[in-house]
Amino acid sequence: MNKFKENISNSVLYIREVFLLSLGLYSLIALLFVLSSSQLLFIALLFLFFDIILLNIIGGKRKKEIAKIKSTIKNIRENKLNSPDEISLGKSLVELEEDIKAMFLRTQNDIANLKKLEQMRTEFLGNVSHELRTPIFAIQGFIETLLDGAINDPKVNMNFLTKAGNHTIRLNNLLNDLIDISMIESGQMKMSFRYFNVKEYLETIYNEIYTLAEKKQLELILHPISKDLKLFGDKERLRQVFVNLISNSIKYTEKGKIEILVEEEIKSGKIIIKDTGIGIPDSDKGRIFERFYRVDKGRSAAAGGTGLGLAIVKHIVEAHGSNVEVKSEIGIGSEFSFRLKK
Ligand SMILES: Nc1ncnc2c1ncn2[C@@H]1O[C@H](COP(=O)(O)OP(=O)(O)OP(=O)(O)O)[C@@H](O)[C@H]1O
Ligand SMILES: [Mg+2]
Repeated sequence: MNKFKENISNSVLYIREVFLLSLGLYSLIALLFVLSSSQLLFIALLFLFFDIILLNIIGGKRKKEIAKIKSTIKNIRENKLNSPDEISLGKSLVELEEDIKAMFLRTQNDIANLKKLEQMRTEFLGNVSHELRTPIFAIQGFIETLLDGAINDPKVNMNFLTKAGNHTIRLNNLLNDLIDISMIESGQMKMSFRYFNVKEYLETIYNEIYTLAEKKQLELILHPISKDLKLFGDKERLRQVFVNLISNSIKYTEKGKIEILVEEEIKSGKIIIKDTGIGIPDSDKGRIFERFYRVDKGRSAAAGGTGLGLAIVKHIVEAHGSNVEVKSEIGIGSEFSFRLKK
């Protein structure tokens, strides 16, 4: 029934033509009773003539409509329209007009997204080259100085070689981070989820990273974790998350402590990494997960940071169906947390 109504409402466009046609038919039937055969032939020919005129009118109307649709599509294709309000096909084609408007909006969004992606790619390349340049220039500088004679100066030669060596480590770390980022973002990162014992797992990481805190005379505390608690995740990838978060806390804390806690919830374990460090300004909290974003570029670069750590952390935690939450107060400390399924 609805379909019938719809068809009728769509054909209203040709209502005059239909009425004209029926009027003709009525008259023909009426005349059948009163006219002779030669008169009827004449009338039939007359109607044929009117039919042709009628068809011509209908055809003209359709042509106009199609021309309107064509020119609208052409304008869209040639980017001549700025807003969907400029699209108008008239009363008879309201539905089509709505569809074309929706399509136009979508194309506009797609174009805007493409432009944004293009800009991000350019920015990314700029950032990468900038980050590569620093260690390469440093290594180049040390090698040139050594070749120019410093190699024979026992007071500096070892020092320069060690520094050059450190920069190659930085380069290597940067490249590894870049490979991770590109694998993650192109969806090539294979995850392998399993249940694992969190206490054992975090103790291993704690033992590996402990000396880093010790060097800065910071206390690294792993709070007691139930020995039976098992969480679900990709241990290898989560290692990156923990190492990044804990080393950030160590990097951005001058005095005090770094704590690792696991709070058991009904369906998950909440993992918290907390420090008494410099804190993150409110205005930067939303941006620290962006690639290459650093609050204090000077301080981070001095600590060997490139601003890729948290971008990787975010992706990995999201691949576990969770989000990283940040609480932080300047001069008091920061807290990063996320959940893993039990
Ligand atoms: N625990 C923290 N306390 C204070 N600031 C932090 C902390 N963690 C991260 N930040 C800020 O967020 C920025 C981004 O962190 P991210 O780990 O992505 O980069 P990075 O540590 O500078 O370099 P990378 O991790 O690539 O070596 C840091 O530069 C720092 O300004
Ligand atoms: Mg980091």
